[in-house]
Amino acid sequence: MFNEKVHVMDHPLVSHKLTIMRDKSTSVKDFRELVSEIGMLITYEATRDLPLTDKEIETPICKTTMPTLAGKKFAVVPILRAGLGLVDGVLRMVPSARVGHIGMYRDEETLQPHVYFAKMPTDIAERDIIIVDPMLATGGSAVEAITEMKKRGCKNIKLMVLVAAPEGIKAVQDAHDDVHIYCGAVDEGLNERGYIVPGLGDAGDRIFGTK
Ligand code: PRP
Ligand code: URA
Repeated sequence: MFNEKVHVMDHPLVSHKLTIMRDKSTSVKDFRELVSEIGMLITYEATRDLPLTDKEIETPICKTTMPTLAGKKFAVVPILRAGLGLVDGVLRMVPSARVGHIGMYRDEETLQPHVYFAKMPTDIAERDIIIVDPMLATGGSAVEAITEMKKRGCKNIKLMVLVAAPEGIKAVQDAHDDVHIYCGAVDEGLNERGYIVPGLGDAGDRIFGTK
């Protein structure tokens, strides 16, 4: 259904944790912890192509040469607000990553995204980027965020989400066919208010307890 640039996690831990998150009776505390945990698990897959280099070390037994990360510059860019919930999980896997922020909200009537804030590391154009957001619904926010990063000179951009609608994946692929998408699950589709079905509701509200 989707091309090879769409990576859907096929892992029991991710499926199990997502099911707990989808349950409307799950507490804000548990929801927030699960966003972070799944963020860590998807980061594992999204960083599979990080380059390695050789390093000479000495074990208690002998001298040897072993692989180590080549130190490619890397940045995680959450789409505010809900994307903030995923930053911790990425940083636990890649502690040296820098963090850029892009603030965006969806107009509830038109479903169009609006950028209200952007603050990036000064050398962002030299970095590989993972944009993070729990939800890829119509895809408007992700398409706009990727456009913003390309305007700043970024070339190698990945998108990481927990739950995607097929409509959102298609929108990103149509607008940015170079971007790899990593998702925890792909759901059925969108309802008339642009929410993912079955989804998990409003991710920002559930992470921050605002409703
Ligand atoms: C949510 C979500 C995405 C966006 C997805 O954010 O976190 O950013 O909607 O929808 P789309 O694919 O149709 O653009 P929201 O606008 O609710 O803002 P929030 O993170 O501040 O809650
Ligand atoms: N944003 C959310 O937080 N949830 C959805 O289902 C769609 C957009």
